Amino acid sequence: MTEPVFPVSRAMPEAALFRDAMARVASAVHVVTTLGPQGRVGLTATAVASVSDAPPTVLVCVAKLSRTLAVIEASGVFCVNTLPGDDLDLAEIFASRRGIEGEARFATRDWSALTTGAPALSGAVAAFDCRLVAAHDVATHRILIGEVVGLGGAAAPPGTSLIYRQRGFEAV
Ligand SMILES: Cc1cc2nc3c(=O)[nH]c(=O)nc-3n(C[C@H](O)[C@H](O)[C@H](O)COP(=O)(O)O)c2cc1C
Repeated sequence: MTEPVFPVSRAMPEAALFRDAMARVASAVHVVTTLGPQGRVGLTATAVASVSDAPPTVLVCVAKLSRTLAVIEASGVFCVNTLPGDDLDLAEIFASRRGIEGEARFATRDWSALTTGAPALSGAVAAFDCRLVAAHDVATHRILIGEVVGLGGAAAPPGTSLIYRQRGFEAV
C-alpha cells in the first residue's frame, strides 16, 4: 500500500492545514471590479465559480473586511475579469501588494464598460458583467451571487490563463 503524500485528517483540520491543502488546488485568477461614487475599485479574487447558465450566474466570495465589498453592495453591480497568463502585475496590484490604491490601479490597462458600467478589462480572457442578485454571509466572507448581463474579453482567441497554486502565480 502506498503512503499518503499529505497528512490524513478525519477531524476538522487546523486552519493552517486547510490552507496548505487548498494551496495545492490550482485556481484561475480574476480581478473583480465595480464603480462607486469615488470612482473605480476592485480586488484580486480566486474564489469565483460558475453557478448556472439559466440564467447565467456566477458567485464570488469576498472577505467582509474588503473595501471593495461595500462599494459592490452599494452599486449593485460587479464585473469578473479573468486574467491572461502574462498579467501577474495586475493580480498583484489588485491584491494590494504594490502600494497602488483606488483609481490608480486601473491606470496601466485599457478598460471599458459593458452593460452595468463596472470596469471590464479589454485584454481579459473573459469578462462577466454582473448584477448583484443575492448575498450570503458565511464565516469571514460574503458570497456574492451575480446574474451575468454582459460578456467581454479580448477579441483574440484566449491564450494563456493566470493561475494561483502553491502560493505562486503561473501561466497555463
Ligand atoms: C491570488 C489571490 C487570490 C485572492 N482571492 C481572494 C478572494 O477570492 N476573495 C477575497 O476577498 N480576497 C482575495 N484575495 C485578497 C484580496 O485581493 C486583497 O485582500 C485585496 O487587497 C482586497 O482589496 P480591497 O480591500 O481594496 O477590496 C486574494 C489575493 C490573492 C493574491
